[in-house]
Amino acid sequence: MTGRLAGRFVGLGITGSIAAYKAVDLLRLLRAEGAEVQCLLSTGASRFVAPLALEALSRRRVDADVLDLLPDGRIGHIIVADAADAVLVAPASAAWLAAMASGLASDTVTATCLATAAPVVVAPAMDGEMWGHPATRANVARLRDGFGYVVVDPDVGPLASGQTGPGRLATLPAIVDAVVAAVAGRPIRAGGPGELPPTTGDVRETDLLGRRIVVTAGGTSEPIDPVRFIGNRSTGKMGVAVAEAARDRGADVTLVAGSVSVPLPGGLRVIRAETASAMLQVLLDALGGADGRAGFDALVMAAAVADFRPRAVETTKLARAGGLTLDLVATPDVLATVAERARGLATVPLLVGFAAETGSLDRVPEKLRRKGVDMMVANDVSEPGSGFGTDTDRVTLVSADGGSEAWPLLPKRVVADRILDRVRSLLDERDASPQTGGTPPAGGRDGGAPR
Ligand code: CTP
Repeated sequence: MTGRLAGRFVGLGITGSIAAYKAVDLLRLLRAEGAEVQCLLSTGASRFVAPLALEALSRRRVDADVLDLLPDGRIGHIIVADAADAVLVAPASAAWLAAMASGLASDTVTATCLATAAPVVVAPAMDGEMWGHPATRANVARLRDGFGYVVVDPDVGPLASGQTGPGRLATLPAIVDAVVAAVAGRPIRAGGPGELPPTTGDVRETDLLGRRIVVTAGGTSEPIDPVRFIGNRSTGKMGVAVAEAARDRGADVTLVAGSVSVPLPGGLRVIRAETASAMLQVLLDALGGADGRAGFDALVMAAAVADFRPRAVETTKLARAGGLTLDLVATPDVLATVAERARGLATVPLLVGFAAETGSLDRVPEKLRRKGVDMMVANDVSEPGSGFGTDTDRVTLVSADGGSEAWPLLPKRVVADRILDRVRSLLDERDASPQTGGTPPAGGRDGGAPR
């Protein structure tokens, strides 16, 4: 991206002035100059301008509530304050100037300005009498001289009241010029895209188009007799979140569901598998390989497969009298068996395992090697907010290349998207490397594999 603001991140604060409708065009101009933009709306601004238009153009969810968290759990106005190269408030209403002059951080625009070390550019717009009032004059002077803000004075012209006078928002190119001048010569503040607020899903919308992804979810149930079984606490939330996210990103998804207590999503293929052996059979069938090629590009093994099953399944219900001693044998290691079988194929699918540990994650690298997978998503299920049935997870991603990345506590859907970001980039890398014989996507994406 070229432009005078290429690589820059700008917080665009919009406050409750009629000129707020011009903010959409202002956003377009900032984007055309190459800036990444996060829109911040005061409470009043939401009544003048629709967040949807701002969201579509900025590709970021609008921050309109100082108490709201970002979709990934971070505090929005602090992230913007820390990462912004400039904060631009346009239009700045008389009420906002007064709030800012007294440091009254009750809206997200004021809070961001208070928290930032970046230059702040303010473009007021209001009725002529309001602009001329001593209170407004004093507030503007405080912002300009006391805080060092750049104030782009309003123009003289026709106003919303029908009168003509000073108070009209300065021209949009003049406001953009002021932002360009404010950042000139300053280093880019954010260390990378990870330090910015997340972009909305449409950026990822079809990045898995043509990829065949199999996801397992839920626990397996190993029967004891026609009534009882050995099960576990898995609800299937994490696997279902991965399947949904992959579907939303255009993948052809097969969800292999064990015992799942959350609703199963539509728009994907669901195959039920009650036991470890049944799940193994479903996956080996899906893997295929008669023609030397894998039937899927990636397997995300989020299911909690039971490790033991009764050696024999009673055909009639066991009576309570006399007690019961179960003779348990190990179930097949589904993931390790699929990995083993996949290794012989010309196109090897990407394999992602999960490791639910209690206490320490020290065993995970060895588990990854033992199972022969590309990455392991490990978590400590004894930690509050993480593990079975929760809506959040704190996971560490361990890769076959020895890398390990600890993520903060995040909603499961965000964890799912981050896992898929990694899956996508590894699949893209494999496509680009002829030796590994990655499968080119079936259609639609740029840069298909050289084969
Ligand atoms: N898994 C599997 N088949 C099994 C057990 C586990 O495919 N019989 C998969 C799980 O779906 C998960 C990964 O292997 O993706 C790791 O599961 P985990 O229970 O942590 O590992 P175990 O093999 O059970 O190892 P341990 O008993 O030593 O914890």
